[in-house]
Amino acid sequence: MIKIRNVKKSFENQKILKGINLDIHDNESLVILGPSGQGKTVLIKTMVRLLEPDSGKIEYEGLNILKLNKIELAAFRQSIAFVFQNSALFDFLDVRENLSLYLRMHKRMTDREIEPIIQEALKFVGLGSEVLEKFPEELSGGMRKRVAIARALIKQPKYVFYDEPTTGLDKTNAEKVSELILMLKNKISATSVIVTHDIDLMYAVSDRVALLRDGKIPFVGTKEEITSETLERLYDGGFLHEL
Ligand SMILES: Nc1ncnc2c1ncn2[C@@H]1O[C@H](COP(=O)(O)OP(=O)(O)O)[C@@H](O)[C@H]1O
Ligand SMILES: [Mg+2]
Repeated sequence: MIKIRNVKKSFENQKILKGINLDIHDNESLVILGPSGQGKTVLIKTMVRLLEPDSGKIEYEGLNILKLNKIELAAFRQSIAFVFQNSALFDFLDVRENLSLYLRMHKRMTDREIEPIIQEALKFVGLGSEVLEKFPEELSGGMRKRVAIARALIKQPKYVFYDEPTTGLDKTNAEKVSELILMLKNKISATSVIVTHDIDLMYAVSDRVALLRDGKIPFVGTKEEITSETLERLYDGGFLHEL
């Protein structure tokens, strides 16, 4: 379980997170839904300490990650995978190298050991081995996203974080990515946290949904509990005052 308690974050005078409280259960896929500019990226980065909050507590199985030193933090990061909005592949490495890096560096595997794992991961995301020699800039946005998900699979993490996984993709690719998020979660039994403003994605992948508005989470529940009126208010404003 991930427990987030009263997490606050400001930039200069701008308060972005104003006291976030949220529990994320093991093996669920939780979607944090909100319009753009609400602090979704700030929140998800804070959750894995890519950003330091000003105050609050973030616990993974009782471990407060805000208290970890550099070495402990590196060990914690082994248990998570992060699919960034821009996929964050290394531009100067081809797909094979992008997918090999973790196994080579952290698992000390040889090329021979790595190759079948890469092949399986590529197959999982529906890509052929012809992409292995390509560089990220030669791939479409949808393909880059698939490679990023393949990389997450290879890491076998306990937690997977996605920042706007469908943004910039056409409908077909967005649906494929939704499907892969569910497939990955089932394959490795990972807890998945997805931040997005994409309502279709929310309906497709969420076990539970947290709404983010005005630096707080005014609602957590299942997608069945969210009415279209609630969504309208989330995107039009005034939401917080009515709850
Ligand atoms: N590193 C930063 N420095 C200053 N302001 C930032 C920084 N990162 C984000 N912000 C501000 O925080 C707000 C929320 O940003 P963000 O988390 O990217 O929103 P979302 O992901 O929901 O679209 C924005 O107003 C943005 O300008
Ligand atoms: Mg964002």
